[in-house]
Amino acid sequence: MTDIRHFLDLDKMSAETLSDILDLGSVEKAGKAPFGDKPLAGKTLALIFEKPSTRTRVSFEVGMRQLGGDVVTLDAESSQIGRGESIADTARVLSRFVDAIMIRTTDESKLLELAQYATVPVINGLTDQSHPCQIMADLMTIKEHKGRLDGLKFAWVGDGNNVSTSFIHAAPKFGFALDLACPVGYRPNQGLIETANAEGGKVRLTDMDSALDGADVIVTDCWVSMGDKDADARMEALTPYQINASTMAKAKPDAIFMHCLPAHRNEEVTDEVIDGPQSVVFDEAENRLHAQKGVLLYCFNGLPS
Ligand code: CP
Ligand code: NVA
Repeated sequence: MTDIRHFLDLDKMSAETLSDILDLGSVEKAGKAPFGDKPLAGKTLALIFEKPSTRTRVSFEVGMRQLGGDVVTLDAESSQIGRGESIADTARVLSRFVDAIMIRTTDESKLLELAQYATVPVINGLTDQSHPCQIMADLMTIKEHKGRLDGLKFAWVGDGNNVSTSFIHAAPKFGFALDLACPVGYRPNQGLIETANAEGGKVRLTDMDSALDGADVIVTDCWVSMGDKDADARMEALTPYQINASTMAKAKPDAIFMHCLPAHRNEEVTDEVIDGPQSVVFDEAENRLHAQKGVLLYCFNGLPS
């Protein structure tokens, strides 16, 4: 299993590999195709969804087809996964049919079990704990708008959730500073921050004003993620963390606003911000396609030498 090129979590991969994957995605986006026109011809990717998706599903389906490959999509409800077939057996069976598997699931343990028993690469399409494909697209977008990642200051404002965890994982790999402003009870795990900082990251938990001060990039996400049960408590705790015109004004004048989408408009972000001139959310959504082409080429073919 060890020589299979999985894409499980950003903290498990080297900075060099991640940077090369991002570059590969950008080169594909520019139409340069380092592996040729249809490098994944004859290859099939299985997509497993145990949670809803629009962007992840469409970007992986379109990306595979643009690279010459095919996809087969499984939802928990309409497959035997929903009736309790084990992840291990699902991994063993799918590995006989397809060349890689992407999974969106609940607990990270299911992703890891799939990778343990699959004999083909496994890609993390979101778990309750992380969302690495999203952060690859976000980093591509920031590079396009700011020209670099190293030395920038990012402010994560709101829920310390799966998406924020992947930002924390990415911080020591790409050299940006990350301030997180999250209410008590919805903060990221302190151990996660300590691990990132032990690896050279500049990550800190702080208040909203400090996070926004001098920020080049402002990121938020929904206050109630898929599977969260405590919606009322979350709304109450997170309301002061809304991104609106006055919070945007506390960051650098040329700061960009990002959100992985779907947005809950006028909850975590107001219409005037998400539709405003500093918002790059639709470039960010488009880059799911391009960044994941880099991920797919890495998993299937490896990196060009
Ligand atoms: N951002 C994101 O992962 O979107 P979907 O849930 O629509 O896939
Ligand atoms: N944090 C959100 C991300 C959705 C793409 C969720 O898990 O629902």
